[in-house]
Amino acid sequence: MFKAKPVAAGRLPDLLRAMPKAELHMHIEGSLEPELIFALAQRNRVELPYADVDALRRAYVFNNLQSFLDVYHEGTKVLRTEQDFFDMAYAYLVRAHADNVLHAEIFFDTQTHTGHGLDAAVVVNGLHRACVAALAELGITASLIFCFLRHLSEQAAFEALEQVLPYRDKMIGVGLASSELGHPPEKFARVFARCRELGFRLVAHAGEEGPPAYIWSALDVLRVERIDHGVQSMQDPLLMQRLAKDRIPLTVCPLSNLKLCVFPALAQHNLARMLDAGLVATVNSDDPAYFGGYINENFTQTFAALGMSAQQAWQLAHNSFAASFLDEPLRRSYQQRVNAVFEAFE
Ligand code: HPA
Ligand code: ZN
Repeated sequence: MFKAKPVAAGRLPDLLRAMPKAELHMHIEGSLEPELIFALAQRNRVELPYADVDALRRAYVFNNLQSFLDVYHEGTKVLRTEQDFFDMAYAYLVRAHADNVLHAEIFFDTQTHTGHGLDAAVVVNGLHRACVAALAELGITASLIFCFLRHLSEQAAFEALEQVLPYRDKMIGVGLASSELGHPPEKFARVFARCRELGFRLVAHAGEEGPPAYIWSALDVLRVERIDHGVQSMQDPLLMQRLAKDRIPLTVCPLSNLKLCVFPALAQHNLARMLDAGLVATVNSDDPAYFGGYINENFTQTFAALGMSAQQAWQLAHNSFAASFLDEPLRRSYQQRVNAVFEAFE
């Protein structure tokens, strides 16, 4: 294993910002900044229930996942055209690139937007065009993960899948998002089995607010390769053994967990304990426009709160590429760039 040089506490934030990283858990609609929401509302003549940008920002106080999803859903109503989806995703990729994100795997859904009368093609094509443009113009690699909304039915998920299959080549995998409690993974067993046959990579949100049982069923019933959040796994020692043994990555989102009251304070977050237990944890922003920061803010605030080290920074950067769906040669070349930055850092 790479041995990171010790870094003075005062220099650690600079290292965290400079280190190359992958972001594997972010919902593209959660990157809509209030300014962009208002600009798109004006462009599309959509009425917003907020007087101005400041009033909207003041609404960003949440006490659980559902209270966030309600506000987040309001924001998605301004998205009407392929260009809107392009602009949203391109803005995120520019922002991620500034945080030294070399590679992003982006969650999106179509059910929110088809519910607003849009065609699924508008969503997928706009987002995919932004990924292509960002590679050409910034050199950042990005791929798309299509999420089913778990508060909706199995049949609705099958219909959504059917609608995106003409664009199969524009997506690398499928995931499971929205209200977790009361909607266990097994509700989507047959949809995920179908997606597996179709060759999609599989992930699911589990153990954000939901119990360890949801993580077990995401693994054993849906057969996912990564768990999104997974912070509740630490209540179950057998589950932790399983996650460590099979090297199942967990895409952890500390500021999201703080804002949605999954932990009362960042100082109580279990990220460092996950690494100590040998779990393949990663750090991600989830819905950065709503939760108070992009990926580097997640790193710097969590490292400060938990007193984490340069070695743990290296581990998280390395894990982010290990947990990605990149092809092996590009994964290795990105991991070498991580090592080079740690070696050169003074
Ligand atoms: N959990 C579940 N669904 C979501 C989230 C989240 O954190 N963000 C956007 N959709
Ligand atoms: Zn999420």
